[in-house]
Amino acid sequence: MSEMLTETIQGTAVPKLGLGTFELLGEAAIETVQKAVETGYRHFDTASKYGNEQAVGEGLSRSGLSRDEFFLTTKVWITDLHPDTIVETVAESVAALKLESVDLLLLHWPSPHFGLKESIESLSLTKDAGLARQIGVSNFPPSMLLEALNYGDLFCNQVEFHPYLDQTPLLRIAAERDLLLTGYAPLAIGRVSEDPLLQAIGEKHGKTAAQVALRWLVEHRKVAVMPKSKSPHRLQENFDIWDFALSQEDTDSIATLAHGFRIYDEEWVADWEDNSRDAGPALRSVTLS
Ligand SMILES: NC(=O)c1ccc[n+]([C@@H]2O[C@H](COP(=O)([O-])OP(=O)(O)OC[C@H]3O[C@@H](n4cnc5c(N)ncnc54)[C@H](OP(=O)(O)O)[C@@H]3O)[C@@H](O)[C@H]2O)c1
Repeated sequence: MSEMLTETIQGTAVPKLGLGTFELLGEAAIETVQKAVETGYRHFDTASKYGNEQAVGEGLSRSGLSRDEFFLTTKVWITDLHPDTIVETVAESVAALKLESVDLLLLHWPSPHFGLKESIESLSLTKDAGLARQIGVSNFPPSMLLEALNYGDLFCNQVEFHPYLDQTPLLRIAAERDLLLTGYAPLAIGRVSEDPLLQAIGEKHGKTAAQVALRWLVEHRKVAVMPKSKSPHRLQENFDIWDFALSQEDTDSIATLAHGFRIYDEEWVADWEDNSRDAGPALRSVTLS
């Protein structure tokens, strides 16, 4: 098994590579989580909205890992932030996962239903209740993240991150404030595997284009990535990124691919503070999925 690196955030070690579980349901989710554990994955990403917390919990439980051997993130949905009910709602997620607490609880998207201060203060209640060891946000643009940091002790911002979408401003904030930037859709939902530049770099290293993209992402400071695959072969492929390194020339040429291509978007995010909406409409909406 390859050695996987961790990132230390606010004194907590977080595996830099994890398994995304969006769209994995039921038995497929259970089996994929078990297979991922066998492959060496120790970081798992789910959400109440994905409808698979029970299956992810079952997969982890069947895998036989002890609680301190893995890092588990789940997310609370944008409607579930009322201070009177959030603890009960998140307790249901934690129970479905068969855990006593999650390592990280994220607000899935900025909420159009609750103010920013109220949202973060509500999240903090789950930490006070011992249900979440750390709390954070997801899909927060830079200035919203900076404002949110005034309202609670945040650990993470999970955002779309792949070679086609520049996240320099958020990476800078992560470095300055000791925050984890978790990159989701790191394979641009599989598109990176068809990319001629990434393929050419991969050929030099005996690696696939997907491995090059993942390696490029994890070489960033304060970053963890969450590729999803239901295929045992691709789970292994996505994990085997620790035995090579990109040259400065590779890194510089990959950086030229960022033209603001965004896959996930929601109309209630007022401004991403980048050029991604100039590139045309995004492909997917979580509310439709
Ligand atoms: N916070 C948020 O709002 C948010 C939004 C979206 C996603 N996420 C998280 O991030 C995770 C990953 O994002 P994602 O699932 O949208 O996209 P992704 O990981 O970029 O791509 C997954 C897609 O790529 C394919 N794939 C996997 N490995 C491959 C490889 N080595 N070569 C070619 N194709 C490959 C998968 O197919 P197979 O399964 O058939 O291999 C699947 O269709 C999610 O599962 C979720 O946990 C969070």
